[in-house]
Amino acid sequence: MWAIAAAYFIGSIPTALIIGKLFFGVDIRDHGSNNPGATNSLRVMGKKAALFVLVIDAGKGALAASLPAFLFVSVDPLYLGFAAVIGHCFPIFAGFRGGKAIATTAGMLLIANLPLFFVAYLSFVLVIFLTKYVFFGSISVGLSLLVYSFIIPETGPSLLFGLFTIFLFYLHRSNIRNLILGIEPKINDKNIKKD
Ligand code: G3P
Repeated sequence: MWAIAAAYFIGSIPTALIIGKLFFGVDIRDHGSNNPGATNSLRVMGKKAALFVLVIDAGKGALAASLPAFLFVSVDPLYLGFAAVIGHCFPIFAGFRGGKAIATTAGMLLIANLPLFFVAYLSFVLVIFLTKYVFFGSISVGLSLLVYSFIIPETGPSLLFGLFTIFLFYLHRSNIRNLILGIEPKINDKNIKKD
C-alpha cells in the first residue's frame, strides 16, 4: 500500500507548473489550454521547456513503475505506474489540478510493459501525424491498449485499459468541446512560443 502511495506522490510533482513559475513567471494553468503538460508547455514556454516537461513527466511514471526493482515490493509495476498517472492528473502538491496523463503513462509503460509502450505510442504518433490533433493521439493511447488487450489477453486486464480510456476521454473533455466549437488548436498551429 505504501508503494502505491509513494508512486502517487512521485506522480504528483507538478513539473510544468514548477518550470513555468521558476523560469517564465507564469502559472501554466492560466495560459493556452490551461493544461500543465508538455503540449501546453510547447505553446506557452517553447520547445526546450516542453522537452524538459516531457522527459520529467515520463520519468515520474518510469520511476514509479521501477519501485519494485529497488524497494523489493511485490506490486505489479503497471499498477504503480497508474498510481503515478493519477498523481500527475490530480497532484496533491498542486491543488489536484494536474495534467492529462500521456507523458507519465509513456514512462510507466516503458518500464512496466515495453510491447504495450510501442503499441500505444506508435498509435499516438501515427494518429497525430494523420490528424494533426495531439488530443486524438492521446485518446488513441487508451483505445490502442484496450484493443490490444482484447487481441492478446495476456497483455493485461482489459477492464483496466477500458477504465483508462474513459478516464482519458474525461481528461480531454475541454479538447472535445473545443473541437466541436472549431477552436481546438492543431500541432502545427502558429501559436507555439519560440525559444
Ligand atoms: O497530452 C495532452 C494533450 O492530449 C492535450 O493537451 O494542452 O492541447 O490540452 P492540450
